[in-house]
Amino acid sequence: MATKAPGAAPPRTVDLGKLRSAASGCRGCDLHRDATQTVFGEGPHEAEVMVVGEQPGDQEDLAGAPFVGPAGRLLDRALDEAGFDRRKIYVTNAVKHFKFRRDERGKRRIHQTPSKTEIVACRPWLHAELATVQPDLLIFLGATAAKSLLGDDFRVTRSRGERIDLAEFGTVAIATVHPSAVLRAPDRDEAYRAFVADLVTARGR
Ligand code: URA
Repeated sequence: MATKAPGAAPPRTVDLGKLRSAASGCRGCDLHRDATQTVFGEGPHEAEVMVVGEQPGDQEDLAGAPFVGPAGRLLDRALDEAGFDRRKIYVTNAVKHFKFRRDERGKRRIHQTPSKTEIVACRPWLHAELATVQPDLLIFLGATAAKSLLGDDFRVTRSRGERIDLAEFGTVAIATVHPSAVLRAPDRDEAYRAFVADLVTARGR
């Protein structure tokens, strides 16, 4: 009989500290093998807004905190411009370990998109964070985050900025692009303005 991977099921608790500690030992998929550590969500238990990204990047993996690298700095600036205070927001990721490959010289760690299996394996942690924080508003950054809770058919390009009722979690959601996509955009200023506009729309919710 197959045994359950240790840590794949979060403990039944609404204590973020206990959830974080349990997630640090998660072996629900193979990503823990190469990553430095689990990067759990951060922010106040009573946050009204939750932001969900894809997965920690290189700097987040080393620091053990979400959105502290270049994408995080852009996110902070955009949130601020849209009238949010990041310190009052709970920030997390759909996948809590960094997935990467090494470059040819074995030095740089290059981001790889998590697979469906990895997203599904990590989803119970996101569910547990949602059940604990119970935000009034959920903001998905990019396709991986949105698909994790809204299903594979969801397209950010088609539905960005639209209100999505998530009755199952007692909240409303809005999806926008990932800040890394803004950093990579050919017209970065335009992409940034559209990103902030989505956040302003979200705030109006
Ligand atoms: N990108 C993400 O999706 N999450 C992070 O925490 C950092 C970069």
